[in-house]
Amino acid sequence: MKFGIDQLNIYVPRHYLDMASLASARGVDVNKYKVGIGQHKMAIIAPHEDIVTMALEASYDIVLEHRNDIDLLLFATESGIDFSKAAGNYVHKMLELKPNVRILEVKQACYALTGALQLAVDFIKNHPTKKALVISSDIAWYGFNNPGESTQGAGAIAMIVSANPRLAVIGEGTYFTEEKTDFFRPSYQEVPTVDGKLSIRCYNDILKQVEHQKPFRYVCFHMPFANMANKANEQLTHPISNDRLEHVKYFTQEVGNIYNGSLYLSLASVLSLSDVTPNETIGMFSYGSGSIGEFYPLTLTPNFKTVISPNKFLNHIQTRQEISIATYEKWMTEFIEKEKSSDYQTSLDARTKTTRFYLKAISNGHRIYEKSTF
Ligand code: HMG
Repeated sequence: MKFGIDQLNIYVPRHYLDMASLASARGVDVNKYKVGIGQHKMAIIAPHEDIVTMALEASYDIVLEHRNDIDLLLFATESGIDFSKAAGNYVHKMLELKPNVRILEVKQACYALTGALQLAVDFIKNHPTKKALVISSDIAWYGFNNPGESTQGAGAIAMIVSANPRLAVIGEGTYFTEEKTDFFRPSYQEVPTVDGKLSIRCYNDILKQVEHQKPFRYVCFHMPFANMANKANEQLTHPISNDRLEHVKYFTQEVGNIYNGSLYLSLASVLSLSDVTPNETIGMFSYGSGSIGEFYPLTLTPNFKTVISPNKFLNHIQTRQEISIATYEKWMTEFIEKEKSSDYQTSLDARTKTTRFYLKAISNGHRIYEKSTF
């Protein structure tokens, strides 16, 4: 029996800031962002969104047919909203899953989704008739006017893990961990402390430790910014070609860092744009600051195209609305206030008809979500 990803879906906020607007506001040459870092756009959450609404948007469509089979819900995030209550509790309620589900929130910087995925595979090996819902949802936020600002983003990934998966079989990973100080966010800080140059070195060092030294046509990378893929590709024993690297990078260029989901956004990009074929094995490299890295092979099934709609992902990325630098600054200022508030009311204007789920209010620390009726 084989084990892996039965279905995968992505959610990216419906608004973005063009990197030219950020460059102009910060007095930076736009080519530093668009050419040097490789970022064209940055996804920005609207005031009615948070990690739970993004997770719901990503999960909803793929959960419908599995509602009664899901026994495990793993929610990977480094943008947690509560030290005790798992964000997955809200997801469980809003998706109307059955009561006997184990729910856990998983944390290890940007690696937690890959770790959760591998643990879900082990769970399904022991319980092959069951299914796991594995989600990531993150808001990469460094604050205004600092080097990290150009490498922000937001988004969620949802995957159903099962026996005899329809999308891809997950192979044995090679992992390596080492305590590092490249990037961390202690509980008293709103934004991470980051040593950018050290973080790039830590990323590359671990990749060299874990890569499989075999030729792959495609290798997907964790991408905190799109051009990290160029630096990573150079570390491989068999680098992939430049035209294939463009497919690996495209969604990240358009969205920015979505932390845990970044590697899987890259996979969605490859599935949408490239010439990947049935039974092809893709190399997957996951990195989480702090630090840990894992490289594993992901083999597409003979019929993977029956569960992936490449145009759906592409359309999702290409149908977003641009916002101004003033709106970006207003929304992100409100985001910080909201995350510190015990009581909050989403303004009616902020709700767009483009999302299914929205945060209606925070009342005494408890979040109230609603599903749109359209
Ligand atoms: P910086 O100091 O603003 O930028 O930091 P820079 O001076 O290094 O320039 C960036 C690139 O643009 C350079 O190219 C420049 O030459 C080029 P490179 O040497 O890298 O090839 N450049 C230009 N190109 C064309 N025209 C110009 C121009 N000017 C400069 N005019 C940095 C950049 C990414 C370090 C910063 O944004 C940062 O700290 N970001 C956050 C940390 C990060 O993303 N680290 C990456 C690895 S760690 C990781 O992946 C984990 C993470 O996801 C967190 C987690 O695990 O939870 C972050």
